[in-house]
Amino acid sequence: FNVPKAQNEPVKNYLPGSPEREELQAMVEKMRSEVIDIPMYIGSEEIRTSDLREFSSPHDHQRVLAKYHYGDKSHVEQAVNAALGARTLWAEMSWEHRASIFLKAADLAAGPYRAKLNASTMLGQSKTVYQAEIDSACELVDFLRFNVEYMTQIYAEQPESSAGIWNRLEHRPLEGFIFAITPFNFTAIAGNLPAAPAMMGNTVVWKPSDDQVYSAKVLMDLFREAGVPDGVINLVYAEGPDAGDVVFNHPDFAGLHFTGSTGVFQHLWKTIGENITKYKTYPRIVGETGGKDYILAHKSADAKAVATAITRGAFEFQGQKCSAASRCYIPRNIWADVESYLKADIDDIISNYMGSPEEMSNFFSAVINERSFDKISGYIDRAKASDHCEVIAGGNYDKSKGYFVEPTVIVTTDPMYESMQEEIFGPVVTIYVYETEAFDKAIYLVDNTSPYALTGAIFATDRYAIEHATKKLVNTAGNFYINDKPTGAVVGQQPFGGARGSGTNDKAGSILNLLRWVSPRMIKETF
Ligand code: ALA
Repeated sequence: FNVPKAQNEPVKNYLPGSPEREELQAMVEKMRSEVIDIPMYIGSEEIRTSDLREFSSPHDHQRVLAKYHYGDKSHVEQAVNAALGARTLWAEMSWEHRASIFLKAADLAAGPYRAKLNASTMLGQSKTVYQAEIDSACELVDFLRFNVEYMTQIYAEQPESSAGIWNRLEHRPLEGFIFAITPFNFTAIAGNLPAAPAMMGNTVVWKPSDDQVYSAKVLMDLFREAGVPDGVINLVYAEGPDAGDVVFNHPDFAGLHFTGSTGVFQHLWKTIGENITKYKTYPRIVGETGGKDYILAHKSADAKAVATAITRGAFEFQGQKCSAASRCYIPRNIWADVESYLKADIDDIISNYMGSPEEMSNFFSAVINERSFDKISGYIDRAKASDHCEVIAGGNYDKSKGYFVEPTVIVTTDPMYESMQEEIFGPVVTIYVYETEAFDKAIYLVDNTSPYALTGAIFATDRYAIEHATKKLVNTAGNFYINDKPTGAVVGQQPFGGARGSGTNDKAGSILNLLRWVSPRMIKETF
């Protein structure tokens, strides 16, 4: 099959005076000057309700960007019915035509929608320009293009036949509808979670995070303009328990595509288990959940490289990536250097590069909402009060205009301290300094003090140390990095997902993931 070969969408640099910067700046100005109305999109209808909620910028929470129409159980039911109603036509459409729709979506996202996707992600989720670009432009485009390429490989794969026997494999969509629950932190993930099952011929009910409704609307416009037929992707906003009550009690529930917290995922899995006898088919459960991602440095590591990895890995997008570095194990021999580089980086960010993402030179902005702000500042307060901790950089917070928490570094003498173990999902990193020769102890701590296994990184120049850590830490990360920060996986290069408490490891943007959305029929014909 000669579909266009997927290539990673190049990252634009938005330097002052560049045409992409002018275009994006104009889009940001236009979008922040209006308050838009966001309906739900169910079947061919735009649904408006009396439960109208406000959507604001996290970095300027008094500024309303949109009013969106919130749904209840009846709307979720309507979305399920629309998905089931659209199912047969969509499942019977040839895969080439489905592929073509999503390739068009990729081209729209890379071209005419790029500024709008980026501006909505900057204004609505407080992503700085580079973080928005690598997410809502590049990663989204990459998910769409690479998944189309993987899908062609799936449909091309056929078993052997022999004289008098013709074996054929049909990759049918699942029998029912898929429920996609998407997070606030990546616009690309919000797009990919409904798009991947839809590509494989399924129809979807999509419930985004309430904190991402603004860019979700742009994604929905994009899907519709690309030609995704009515009812294939249905976008609803509803309270989790309301949506769950409808979806998980429905006999045609066929799959969950989830990114979010470990607690919610485990709760949903239990609910699905309790209802298992109600379903026509065993539902597929695919989830990417929490992380407590680590940087482990060896005594041979380059101190500057380690400090830069901590700064970028822990603080890009305010640490609100499931992959963010949040616990570090640094040997005493390089600690003084790592500490001074780190403090210098963070002082520089706080003094010069922290604020509104609309100011395009900024590196760092606000966290997503007040609940998150309160949770993160609680961790900082407890660390300040603890005998086992010292806050060596950052540590201040202020929610008067936006939900701003400084990039914060805690150094602890207790490797079991709460912030070495619990996911905070914000700009806080905790560092444990180990005795220089105690590398095996550090490896043991990495492996045994967290329930998660999403991402992790080893820094060393000694190849024996790299090999030793790589082998010993085999179960600690679905994405493992050698001499690089543990964030920023690129679709088509590092398929992403974690194990243990971090998810089902069905690598987003991979054949593995797409295969979860089909139920193959093997046909044997004899002559
Ligand atoms: N895929 C994202 C990353 O690697 C979460 O940072």
